[in-house]
Amino acid sequence: MRSRDRRGRSARRAGALAVLASFRALRASPALTALALAAAACSSEEAVTPAPPPLPDIGYGAPGSLSAASGKGGFRLGAASAATQIEDRNPATDWYVFTLPEAEGGLGRGAGFVGDASRGYSKAIEDVALLREMGLDSYRFSVEWARVEPQRDVIDEDALAHYDRLLDALVAAGIRPVITLHHFSNPVWLDDPRHTDCASGPGDDNLCGFGHPEGGPLVIEEMAEHAALLAARFGDRVDDWGTLNEPFNYLLAAYGVGAFPPGKAALLGDLLGEFVPVLRDYLLAHAAAYRAVKEADTVDADMDGAAADVGLSLSVAEWVAARNHQVSDDPEDIGARDRMAYVYNHLVVDAVLRGRLDSDLDGEPDLELPGLEGTLDWLGVQYYFRAGVTGDVGLVPVLDLTPCVNGLDLGACVPPVDPTFCVPAMRYEHHAPGLHGALTDLGARYPDLPLVVTESGIATRVGERRAEVVVRALEQIERARAEGVDVRGYYHWSLYDNFEWAEGFAPRFGLYSVDYGGSYERTPTEGAEVLGEIARGRALTGALRARYGGDGPMTPEPEAEGLERCSGN
Ligand code: FCB
Repeated sequence: MRSRDRRGRSARRAGALAVLASFRALRASPALTALALAAAACSSEEAVTPAPPPLPDIGYGAPGSLSAASGKGGFRLGAASAATQIEDRNPATDWYVFTLPEAEGGLGRGAGFVGDASRGYSKAIEDVALLREMGLDSYRFSVEWARVEPQRDVIDEDALAHYDRLLDALVAAGIRPVITLHHFSNPVWLDDPRHTDCASGPGDDNLCGFGHPEGGPLVIEEMAEHAALLAARFGDRVDDWGTLNEPFNYLLAAYGVGAFPPGKAALLGDLLGEFVPVLRDYLLAHAAAYRAVKEADTVDADMDGAAADVGLSLSVAEWVAARNHQVSDDPEDIGARDRMAYVYNHLVVDAVLRGRLDSDLDGEPDLELPGLEGTLDWLGVQYYFRAGVTGDVGLVPVLDLTPCVNGLDLGACVPPVDPTFCVPAMRYEHHAPGLHGALTDLGARYPDLPLVVTESGIATRVGERRAEVVVRALEQIERARAEGVDVRGYYHWSLYDNFEWAEGFAPRFGLYSVDYGGSYERTPTEGAEVLGEIARGRALTGALRARYGGDGPMTPEPEAEGLERCSGN
């Protein structure tokens, strides 16, 4: 892309690190303004205004296939989670050694030790009751690779049996499982965070990870073997598979700036030379896993004509052109916004559909990736925030832009559409209509690709806010569907509170809150009650919409007081 030489190279490098460290690691949380709704308290003495017409109910067709034509018009109502974020203590994952305190032999990185997370492994079967109580028809979760294969090529049968039991319980409850193969975590042997230099080259204890000239191809092979193992073992009950979760976010955090394990910071060096090979290998791992699942899962459990519907989940955001802390119409900022939206929202899917990667980020695919083309049956869309991007300061190498992330505010952070939309725990704005924008954009760009919202949600301790986010997301999805976008479901992130990666346990994303004081008890939030009412009735009623929906102010977050922008300013 465009490259101006406005700043010195070292300033750029330092800046890029700061900015990008933010992207996912960009979470921590100061106080936010709960700009209390300057509630226009209508006085009862005023002239009576006619009541607005009641909002229509939104009804949902039966859940259907994620990719077959028959699934169009159907709708899933589900919840999502990921293994590392919920499961009990597992020393074989990279997150364990990455977050384990140094005094105990770990690297002590991130905001807190993952430890027992939410005890979601030992409670897996009883947790199925939470989904059942809400009447959800589907559950998206990940199988922890490090549990199944704690050492290279050593399979833990007990772990497989555990996931067998979970799948049996889900199927018995009429809940469709969607398995994510790779959700932000690796077995330690794949790329040991304690030995990122991988000095002696790839070996069974450390394959050196994605992007390594000799190790990368081995990792891809391992990923395919793992996918084949799960597909062969679970394919009689599972039809829906997601290979990767948020590739761009993950790689940026894990390999770009080192905020996630393995903790590599390729962006400190040469973006194109070091980061792009990682992205290339990750996409090839997707393609290898796609094919492995297609071959090994031979049972059409949901009888939609395909034994395996394989997709991946993409993070999208509402990017806004910004300058001097305001929305901008300066062509430089609009260009920066468009480049950001392209790299963040489109680059990966463009590559997978065409089989070619835009390896120099100039907008044109140039690098042929054999076997990648068309390896996508459905696309998962994951939406959380609206953020500004400025072309005024160019901290991200090659792209020559600076986004507003993790409290880093070099003019790109803009006031929220409404102050109550600020999410203090994540330092960003949750703007529900951004989901509609993302869905219509993706629907127009990839008209033949079925979409499903595999994640959306909010970090909050206020149940009513979660309920608002549920209802508003469903309203935005409905808008997109009414405009002809093929959206086949909504999975709320998350089923219950969990380990929010580099941010530790402070952000609460759960439909059920978890008592980390010792009991690990799950308690339904208002969000669970409202999503439950919708799922059980297969309709979002006008009454719920009137109470929680729309695009006006939300119930404020108590810590949100006093901020002009959601970034922590
Ligand atoms: C998404 C991740 C998910 C969770 C939510 C809050 O980016 O996929 O694991 O961390 O954010």
